[in-house]
Amino acid sequence: MSILKKLVVCLLVTSPFLTHAQTIPVLSKHNALVLEVDAKKRLAISYFGEKLSNEAGYRQVKGVYRQAEDYTLVNNSAYLPAGSVNLFEPAIAVVHGDGNTSLDLEYVSHTANTEGNISLTTIVLKDKLYPFQVKLFYKSYIAEDVMEIWTSISHTEKKPVLLNKFASANLYLKSDEFWLRNYHGDWAREMQPEEEKITHGIKTLDTKLGTRANLFQPPLFMVSLGKPATEDEGSVLVGSVSWTGNFRVDLELDNQDNLRLTAGINNYQSAYTLKPKEEFETAKFIYTFSTKGKSLASRNFHNWARNYGMVDGHGSRLTLLNNWEATYFDFNESKLAGLLKDTKKLGVDLFLLDDGWFANKYPRNDDNAGLGDWEENRKKLPNGISYLVKEATANDVKFGIWIEPEMVNPKSELYEKHPEWVIRQPGREEHYFRNQLVLDLTNPKVQDFVFGVVDDLMTKNPAMAYIKWDCNAVIYNAQSAFLTNQSHLYIEYVRGLYKILQRIRVKYPTLPLMLCSGGGGRVDYGALQYFTEYWPSDNTDPLERIYMQWEYSYFFPAMASSNHVTEWGKQPLKYRIDVAMMGKMGYDIVIGKLPEKELAFSQQAVRVYDSLKNVIWHGDQYRLSDPWKNAVASVQYVDSTQSTAVIFNYLVNSRYGQGSVLPIRMKGLDPSANYRLREVNLFPGTKTSVDSSVTYSGDFLMKIGFNPAVRSGRGSVVLVAEKVK
Ligand code: DGJ
Repeated sequence: MSILKKLVVCLLVTSPFLTHAQTIPVLSKHNALVLEVDAKKRLAISYFGEKLSNEAGYRQVKGVYRQAEDYTLVNNSAYLPAGSVNLFEPAIAVVHGDGNTSLDLEYVSHTANTEGNISLTTIVLKDKLYPFQVKLFYKSYIAEDVMEIWTSISHTEKKPVLLNKFASANLYLKSDEFWLRNYHGDWAREMQPEEEKITHGIKTLDTKLGTRANLFQPPLFMVSLGKPATEDEGSVLVGSVSWTGNFRVDLELDNQDNLRLTAGINNYQSAYTLKPKEEFETAKFIYTFSTKGKSLASRNFHNWARNYGMVDGHGSRLTLLNNWEATYFDFNESKLAGLLKDTKKLGVDLFLLDDGWFANKYPRNDDNAGLGDWEENRKKLPNGISYLVKEATANDVKFGIWIEPEMVNPKSELYEKHPEWVIRQPGREEHYFRNQLVLDLTNPKVQDFVFGVVDDLMTKNPAMAYIKWDCNAVIYNAQSAFLTNQSHLYIEYVRGLYKILQRIRVKYPTLPLMLCSGGGGRVDYGALQYFTEYWPSDNTDPLERIYMQWEYSYFFPAMASSNHVTEWGKQPLKYRIDVAMMGKMGYDIVIGKLPEKELAFSQQAVRVYDSLKNVIWHGDQYRLSDPWKNAVASVQYVDSTQSTAVIFNYLVNSRYGQGSVLPIRMKGLDPSANYRLREVNLFPGTKTSVDSSVTYSGDFLMKIGFNPAVRSGRGSVVLVAEKVK
């Protein structure tokens, strides 16, 4: 990067003799998070919201609020310690080496660097009595309006300090009302939203599951200020904790009716013994804020993810044929050879071999055995994976493979050889989740083993083009034979996982990796640093997927969402394919059994998708018609030049006479341009009512809209709007 291009602004402030309040604004394109240091060197959040045009205004914010007097002086602390004025949920709680539990952090200094699109503000806080310090990091991605907040905790006390709580972020929001949208779920029911007004007290979103951590609750949420934000109106913070393990978010409405938000790694069973000079870096809390509703917030996240937050965000993705639901564990070499031919016939890029290809002493013929024994099953695959990879190449398709390397079945050679590699409580009954246990990723030998599963496959088969990384069990009986301090297990597990993934990424930087967790039990931005895509749910019923994909899309871009066409649901093939197209499309059905017309339609659909996928993956997404409120769901993607838009419309209500009664207003088009609309993905033999010779102005399509004529018998309609040159 040239020096001119690299604009670096660096500011270092040390203020030992502060006599008046000092503000530290952390800014992005539209937003401000303003910190303030008072005369007693307390660091607080003085403003959170839309950026002011004049920075001097931030000093006046305090004076215009007439809420109950803040005699506590800590409500809005930027990192509230327990053990001093401990009136609220703390961000940090410690026991010093001498057993003392107090902590009183004061501001020491801060630096602010801006380099291109990213600014990093680092604030140093120190305890008044003990040599204990916390560095707060505020990283602003300016153009995307996305902020990452985390901390680094260290000390030079004589003895280790016990960290009982160690949040990443402490925010303070002011409004007359706060509305929380969060998600619950279970297997095949991921991303079920709930929206409620936040009342006084604390609402905690968390998980204690360890692995597959998001099974019941993901770390994804929104807080609307004033009233629930709609797609295009209202102020909303959309946030998440980037940590692929136990997280915790506390939303505390305080005595002044303001909202204290504390987020980070869950401290559940995780008190951390911090040695002198050791740095404890917390997870990143990530959020975007929009005063123009949820739609903009989600595009902020999508842009950020593609630019910084996931692997190969500007690259391409592979369409595929997966054999999981087509064969389950019941396959052999000749069946797979047939599927490789089907992959080519269908026209997708890659064949993905799922579970069941490995283990010999305890063959993996169902989910009871074999997990951990990663050599090819000789009966099913006498010529090994290499033969299949070569066969794939001969068929002019790529080859990918399923692994679940963090797990072990008790019925496996791995368990027999290395019981000490398994997370379990010796002497206690073992509890299984899908008949399996979790390997102890805190142990470097286990890390080598897990890395080796990928490395071995890749070394033996350099043409291997895709890996699906599954994770089906939670952690029960949390105990590591490797760790001396058991309360480090949950944290060290995630650190171990990231170390392995980092090694994989160093050696295989662009290898497509799908993050799967018995469905969508895992996705977060900590994991997406290493993955190209995720599996939202095993539930591929297209009707269910419309709702799930809708909710996931507030947080993650479409290109990261692996959507497969399966036999789930009662909808016709076209409907299933159309829903899968809103992301990264794949197939998991028996191609050989498709009636001729359906095969022809699928082949054509793959070609249509190939022509539109760049708009879907890299374009701006707009949710036009909400399936939770309307009979028709509608989602649009527009490319950056506003030349092409794809609009997916689905009937989601099967009651009599339901359909698109009103036109659906499009968004993000060029108002002054003219567009021609055409319907694509028509099932052979069906006709469209869309006259592609008519042109509409972008202005018309956005103000009046277009009626896709969705109704019973025409339950799924895909439109393409193209700018007339
Ligand atoms: C759970 C995944 O979600 C499925 O897609 C499949 O890969 C199975 N595991 C295989 O055991």
